[in-house]
Amino acid sequence: MAVMGRNGAGKSTLLHHLVGLRRAQRGSVEILGRTPAALGASEAIRLVGLVPQDPGALLCAETVAAECRDGDRDGGLAEGTTRAVLESIVGGISDDTHPKDLSEGQRLALALAIVLAPEPPLLLLDEPTRGLDYGAKERLSHLLRRLAARGRCVVVATHDVELVAEVADRVVVLADGEVITDGLARSVVCHSAGLASQVARILAPAEWLTVEEVATALAERPRENRASS
Ligand SMILES: Nc1ncnc2c1ncn2[C@@H]1O[C@H](COP(=O)(O)OP(=O)(O)O)[C@@H](O)[C@H]1O
Ligand SMILES: [Mg+2]
Repeated sequence: MAVMGRNGAGKSTLLHHLVGLRRAQRGSVEILGRTPAALGASEAIRLVGLVPQDPGALLCAETVAAECRDGDRDGGLAEGTTRAVLESIVGGISDDTHPKDLSEGQRLALALAIVLAPEPPLLLLDEPTRGLDYGAKERLSHLLRRLAARGRCVVVATHDVELVAEVADRVVVLADGEVITDGLARSVVCHSAGLASQVARILAPAEWLTVEEVATALAERPRENRASS
């Protein structure tokens, strides 16, 4: 699910409530019947994980290895768990690198590994594609789709309509802290001028979201159709 909306709409605030960093003044937050703000840290990280807008904010150790060890300790995980998750997201990061010396994509991967290692059923990401190059963004899209396919609930706050077109089934749009749209990604991305992906803009009114989707559909068409158009 993607949460969209202008700056100041309340996307980050919503994620902070879901992860229990804030308590609601009205209403309540329940994840699988539990209120995250009422849980202790080690229970909370097994229920819901947030990769914040600045993933560096999660990182405070001197090396990648120490960061992974702290992740294992905080989550009560077997030694090496967080490191293995990191390796599955992006290979080749050396243990003794300082987190500050990682690229944006590597820092995001390390923060993701720390958040994912305790296997929370709900994963929240706040504007994860900011500062990522094309390749890192592709890898992130694949990872999020894999996690969703394995039954995780993944919520991404983002301005990035191309990411939304790639990964989201559902889009919620916020304005001034209120939900103004809640619908299938395909219909939101294809029918709202401000939120349309490039492919949706070009091929409107047909409802196509991504280049990959169009390429697959073209490849699957019967041969005669392909020859005549
Ligand atoms: N539901 C809400 N009702 C009232 N104020 C809100 C609500 N959600 C967010 N805010 C306020 O709006 C401001 C910006 O919210 P933020 O979550 O940072 O927006 P975004 O991440 O969409 O840019 C914050 O000061 C926050 O306290
Ligand atoms: Mg925000």
